[in-house]
Amino acid sequence: MKLQTISWSKNKIKIIDQSWLPLKLKYLDLGDLKSLWQAIKVLKVRGAPALGAAAALGVYLGVKDSRAANFRDLRIQLDKAILYLASSRPTARNLFYGLERMRRTLLNNKEKRVTQIKKLLLQEARAIIEEDKIACRRIGFYGAKLIQDQDAILTICNTGILATIDYGTALGVIYSAKEDGKALKVFVSETRPLMQGSRLTTWELKRKGIDVTLICDNMAATLMQQGRIRKILVGADRIAANGDSANKIGTYSLAVLAHYHKIPFYVAAPASTFDLKIKNGRGIIIEERPGQEVTRMFFKQRLAARGVKVFNPAFDVTPHGLISAIITDQGIIRSPYQVSIKKLIKR
Ligand code: MRU
Repeated sequence: MKLQTISWSKNKIKIIDQSWLPLKLKYLDLGDLKSLWQAIKVLKVRGAPALGAAAALGVYLGVKDSRAANFRDLRIQLDKAILYLASSRPTARNLFYGLERMRRTLLNNKEKRVTQIKKLLLQEARAIIEEDKIACRRIGFYGAKLIQDQDAILTICNTGILATIDYGTALGVIYSAKEDGKALKVFVSETRPLMQGSRLTTWELKRKGIDVTLICDNMAATLMQQGRIRKILVGADRIAANGDSANKIGTYSLAVLAHYHKIPFYVAAPASTFDLKIKNGRGIIIEERPGQEVTRMFFKQRLAARGVKVFNPAFDVTPHGLISAIITDQGIIRSPYQVSIKKLIKR
């Protein structure tokens, strides 16, 4: 069965509820903004591009039943929905990209009737979904050129079907290389504390028939020291104008290790992940999440001393100097990043 992480179905947002994986493949219908916000917050839907689509559909959800009689009233309601969704998670650029596209659609159609504007808003959200499908396949196409037959690749978090609409960014590169007939071995870092690597990526890769091996996050150095990793492929939540890239916590340490062991380190992301208004990684807001994610196993079994202080950032920033190339839907970007990003990314 072909998976689609997020869609608009029967007047609701339909998502794969990722909190059930790998135990069950369950879908969840979200019929109001509050349940969407909550689903984003607790990572039932997650991954930068999927968040962009969710946010855009969410804006439509927020206004579709509005009784606004004119543009002004509709705009007030739309802005309210945007503000609310923007408060869910701060780091993924795509979420804000989705929100901005919806606002622009509204503003560009001021003169139309409210019912017509609502139709256009749904159309726009659906366009974001379709564009992601294409963008991921383009990332896959460009990225696969960097992959050799028999490569052993290390990845972190989940950057596949479940993080996008139906293909993936870093995992999309792996899928595309496989479609080209290359045999690959993929090592997946479990991705503490929420285990996106072990729960989601191993599930996805196994479904696709890819040779996958799970490791704990602290085993990556040993693998590299033993010469068992040929490439590292990761996704991104936000990329600054100079190429500094925010991604799941633990990505930066992989980049440092890759540098030491002289292993190519690739970031894969669509143009919608770039934030050209941010000069460098210092400007990227890093989400901090509840300490209980670290002290308890999925909020249940306690794993640490009662009352211990916790530091739980969800993302870190890899400086561009540690990145061998950024694989985008517009092509492959290499150093000097400042210049090549400006040339290639037209958003
Ligand atoms: O906290 P998450 O699971 O939303 O974090 C996701 C990641 O860090 C991904 O690597 C990133 O969003 C890129 S997904 C194509």
